[in-house]
Amino acid sequence: MKTIIEPFKIKSVEPIYFNTPIERKRILKNAFYNPFLIHSDDVLIDLLTDSGTSAMSSNQWAGIMQGDESYAGSPSFFRFEKVVQALTGMPIVIPTHQGRAAEKILFSILGGKGKYFLSNTLFDTTRANIEFSGAEGIDLLCAAGKLPSVPAPFKGNLDTDALKKCIAEKGASNIPLVIITVTNNSGGGQPVSMQNIKDVRAICTEHQIPLFIDACRFAENSYFVKLREEGYADIAVAEIAHELFSYADGCTMSAKKDAFANIGGFLAMHNEKLAMQCRNLLVITEGFPTYGGLAGRDLEAIAIGLQEVVEEPYLHYRIRSIEYLTNKLIEAGVPVMQPAGGHAVYVDANAFLSHIPVDQYPGQALVGAFYEHGGIRSVEIGSLMFGKYAQDGTLIPAQMELVRLAIPRRVYTQSHIDYVSEVIIEVYNKRHEIGGLKIIEEAPLLRHFTAKLAPIN
Ligand code: F0G
Repeated sequence: MKTIIEPFKIKSVEPIYFNTPIERKRILKNAFYNPFLIHSDDVLIDLLTDSGTSAMSSNQWAGIMQGDESYAGSPSFFRFEKVVQALTGMPIVIPTHQGRAAEKILFSILGGKGKYFLSNTLFDTTRANIEFSGAEGIDLLCAAGKLPSVPAPFKGNLDTDALKKCIAEKGASNIPLVIITVTNNSGGGQPVSMQNIKDVRAICTEHQIPLFIDACRFAENSYFVKLREEGYADIAVAEIAHELFSYADGCTMSAKKDAFANIGGFLAMHNEKLAMQCRNLLVITEGFPTYGGLAGRDLEAIAIGLQEVVEEPYLHYRIRSIEYLTNKLIEAGVPVMQPAGGHAVYVDANAFLSHIPVDQYPGQALVGAFYEHGGIRSVEIGSLMFGKYAQDGTLIPAQMELVRLAIPRRVYTQSHIDYVSEVIIEVYNKRHEIGGLKIIEEAPLLRHFTAKLAPIN
């Protein structure tokens, strides 16, 4: 088999500024060991997120020029609406400025004290919006999903037995929605099978609970279904995606991921009454229903991106490039989530830094080491992001301590990725020199964005 090449040519480039480990040690200290507080000019390879960081295509840039900026009834909105309707089969499409704006609107309406939202795994902003409304979010990930080193094809699946039990315990009338996140970002970018979505749909139908999809990475998930699930090998990804959405009553979407857009999102649904409530909130928080929080040009970029992302040469390259990095790390003995996820490589920080206890945030310590050693910016998905405190102030840790190296779409080439693997392997060989961290300042919600940390000794 020949090398799988990037299915694009590069028309425009951005410089990377090089710095030294000594400079980065100082930068990291000044940023209180929090990658969100580092200036991006000081980063060599930025794997903080795959969100809003995609390289847009020449077609998308052409679409930007064609964006119509009318306040109401812009043709750009109607083009966007048509593409989302065709993809999801959902007639009602409400643009928002990004995914969490869609979440904020949805959970402001459906949330509140005494309500429970059940999911395979809620992403941090989704959970925060649920909790901010006074409701509770409950993750019911399948057992395989919680074992980073054990490969399985669909580790993003929702545990359907746990779902039935939870519905019986909490009462269907207190559960406004079940939410399936595709792929499961907080759990290794692992996919959800079509069978699992169908099974969850059947349980939801039985209890009259609507099902929503958190669809940020629907194309990557659909491609995994094509590769791994029986009966889908010969079906086009666009059709698989359409089937996936057909089991849901609605979806929230961040167009900053699988739509290759730098900003944007939407809500889509079937229910007219819920949509009216959403639009009422939309006009006071985002904007008029034909632009949401977006410019007409953004709507064009999203519409074009949604059509490009289901092209199979792209998805083939995308999934293979994540697997390429994952496999290099596995060969060197680095503990990573297996198999490779759809948008990122997830390093198992508990196994990598087994000498650092969870209440000294091994994931965050590892993020610091990757930056200092090689200028690579990554993010902790562990107890800094999801940890809670018990009554006595001790840490209730997250399910896993992961470090995510998210790969922006169409941005880095194979040599960048080779460099990343070299840095990680070098850090692995020096892992015993890395120490733990403590939090010295934190916010009550989404603390990982702004928390300040310091080395333990
Ligand atoms: N849902 C999932 C699964 C996400 O990964 C994100 C964002 C959101 C919702 C919210 O979307 O950023 O447009 O408001 N994830 C980014 C990340 C931030 O780095 O994974 P948003």
